[in-house]
Amino acid sequence: MIELQNVTKTYPNGTKALKNVNLHIDDGEFVFIVGASGAGKTTLSRLLLREEKPTSGQILVNGFNLKRMPEWRVPKLRRTLGVVFQNFRLLPHMTVYENVAFAMRAVGKKKKDIEKTAKSMLGVMHLDGKENNFPDELSGGEQQRVALARALVNNPSTIIADEPTGNIDPRLSRELMKLLVDINESVGKTVVVITHEQELVDYYRKRVVTLKDGEIVSDRTGGMFDED
Ligand SMILES: Nc1ncnc2c1ncn2[C@@H]1O[C@H](COP(=O)(O)OP(=O)(O)OP(=O)(O)O)[C@@H](O)[C@H]1O
Ligand SMILES: [Mg+2]
Repeated sequence: MIELQNVTKTYPNGTKALKNVNLHIDDGEFVFIVGASGAGKTTLSRLLLREEKPTSGQILVNGFNLKRMPEWRVPKLRRTLGVVFQNFRLLPHMTVYENVAFAMRAVGKKKKDIEKTAKSMLGVMHLDGKENNFPDELSGGEQQRVALARALVNNPSTIIADEPTGNIDPRLSRELMKLLVDINESVGKTVVVITHEQELVDYYRKRVVTLKDGEIVSDRTGGMFDED
């Protein structure tokens, strides 16, 4: 469960990125977060990960109260979250396989388990044969799928994907979105997708939260055609 109560984020330079945001996302929900560039979407995801702290307000994520939480508990929070970052953040000096295996090692998985799970996850993402490539030897779509493999490999209950379909062609972006929808529908993971792609959002008829200048200006489910 994700909950923001009266959350405001003002960066040190004075930019008000989020203003009094209230948002509740239940376990198992699929939610799109949309809004123009600069609306506060990435800021919202960084608050959920505790990469940033709110200036005021409460944030609850999967049973963690982010305000009161000491630093040493942050890794525990992050273990519940699989994240695809806006710019992937793949480790450039590690191979595709190592990028995924590293995430498993970081949470103390056994070597045998890592080998099996990392390989099969790369298979699911159609990355067979690319295991030994470095990120800069991959296409944008392939990099995105490595990022998704890494996000999923520790079996988090919640996936947060920031512009997962940016910079890839429309066919790949539909495929990737289908994967995220499948993950939500088949195993009931909570999925939060931040995106610019109105067409994809319209197609799936899921809950859509719209941010504008740091505020939630609409929150609706099941169709974008009843514009107000
Ligand atoms: N570290 C920072 N320091 C100061 N201001 C920031 C910082 N990060 C973001 N901002 C500002 O906060 C506002 C929201 O930025 P944010 O990155 O959340 O937008 P976004 O909705 O993700 O945009 P995009 O669609 O371009 O990724 C913008 O005005 C941005 O310039
Ligand atoms: Mg962003």
